[in-house]
Amino acid sequence: MLSGKVAVVTGAAGGIGAAVVERFVAEGARVIAVDVADQLPDRAGVLTITGDVAEAAIWRRVADTARAEFGRLDVVHSNASVTVRAPAHELSERDWDRQIAVNLKATYLAVHECVGLLREAGGAVVLSSSVHAVVGLPGHPAYAAAKGGLVALGRQLAVEYGPHVRVNTVLPGPILTSAWDDVSEADRVRSVAATAAGRFGRPSEVAAAVTFLASDESSYITGACLVVDGGWTAMKDSA
Ligand SMILES: NC(=O)c1ccc[n+]([C@@H]2O[C@H](COP(=O)([O-])OP(=O)(O)OC[C@H]3O[C@@H](n4cnc5c(N)ncnc54)[C@H](O)[C@@H]3O)[C@@H](O)[C@H]2O)c1
Repeated sequence: MLSGKVAVVTGAAGGIGAAVVERFVAEGARVIAVDVADQLPDRAGVLTITGDVAEAAIWRRVADTARAEFGRLDVVHSNASVTVRAPAHELSERDWDRQIAVNLKATYLAVHECVGLLREAGGAVVLSSSVHAVVGLPGHPAYAAAKGGLVALGRQLAVEYGPHVRVNTVLPGPILTSAWDDVSEADRVRSVAATAAGRFGRPSEVAAAVTFLASDESSYITGACLVVDGGWTAMKDSA
């Protein structure tokens, strides 16, 4: 599905990012994997960059690397994320700013530095938002604001850069990654019970949606949101 394409994946050391890298490589892409953590995938077809996606310098490095190493850039998957759980009155200004920077501003920086290459390639951008963009859950004010912002930004970028670049957004629901490590067993059980699928999603199931949106199989889809949540947003247990 991605034969001959060059893709950037951020948050590539995390659960979903690593699954996307694996799937992209399996589909024939060459990948630049970016993460602030240094446990990046060490495998053929993957070039790694360690750095902070909230800094413009890392995106200049990504664009320079894509140009120098591959002469093109077809796909940007903006997926890195941080979460600090606290209601607004307890959330520090520093933690608010950090979450907005990593979860939202990074996509602006990505496009600012990479859109020239994406236009040349007729490329695709896939953003990782969340069901938090459309449903309120206590303790996530900055995360939800950033993820809601990504939905609007994705639409905006699709309009701005069409027809050359397509931009779409995935909204994952409960996907079992290390992001759930500090969630209690009781809360995990409640989350699973709130899905029509009756289980957590797997990172590979989000990767499948991202791969579709990154590939020419979705050539007439842009400015769209794809919810990947096992029916979590569709389901309510009260009238
Ligand atoms: N897992 C879920 O249930 C779920 C649900 C909804 C949305 N999402 C979204 O999916 C995406 C991936 O989630 P995940 O579960 O794989 O998370 P994860 O915590 O496993 O991975 C996130 C990765 O982002 C990296 N990262 C954090 N800050 C960074 C920075 N400043 N620069 C570069 N990299 C940075 C981390 O090191 C980590 O490897 C995120 O955008 C998340 O918000 C996940």
